[in-house]
Amino acid sequence: MQTTLVIATNNSNKVQEIKSVLNNRFEVISLQEAGILIDIPEPFDSLEENAREKSTVIYQLTGKDCFSEDTGLEVEALGGAPGVKSARYAGEPADTAANIEKLLTALTGIENRKARFRTVISLMLGGIEYQFEGICEGQIATEKFGSGGFGYDPVFIPEGSKISFAGMSMEEKNIFSHRKKALAKMIQFLTSENGENQTTNS
Ligand code: IMP
Repeated sequence: MQTTLVIATNNSNKVQEIKSVLNNRFEVISLQEAGILIDIPEPFDSLEENAREKSTVIYQLTGKDCFSEDTGLEVEALGGAPGVKSARYAGEPADTAANIEKLLTALTGIENRKARFRTVISLMLGGIEYQFEGICEGQIATEKFGSGGFGYDPVFIPEGSKISFAGMSMEEKNIFSHRKKALAKMIQFLTSENGENQTTNS
């Protein structure tokens, strides 16, 4: 029987990217499709704890196997900021344009533009949690480029590319993406004997 997983996120861009990577290998249901309309809290100071909180809340609500992810942009010259605070870097409410503007201003005149996206997936399988990490190294551009993607995509140029994530198709972004790398680890786990034995709906 096919594994069914609820994706514990309200971010439609993430749902699209995740579905493109999972590519019908598992049946995945977004929160919206599961009829769950809550804002999941991210109260902690680490991606790991926030990811766990989100998958735990959704597991408790649905009783179904599910996974969440939390992502941060870690900029070397800023000591790893905005990191876990990436969504609200420029304050509340979360505002992507203001976040990018604050980031570019913070890096004005700074030569070291090294940064990385880090994603932590928390998979809740039969009530047991497993985590998977994906990292994409790159650089912060000096200005926005491209009209696709979401979040910090217009200013993030992955290592091995000359253009930002926002200038790429989803398939191209998936060649480099932090989220894709974390998902690949989760897929490997789920298709291994270990993962197959843990699902509640298989
Ligand atoms: P969160 O994981 O939803 O908390 O995301 C943290 C922040 O990083 C938000 O501002 C997102 O828009 C941004 N973000 C998450 N993933 C990506 C990505 O793949 N590209 C660009 N920005 C992202």
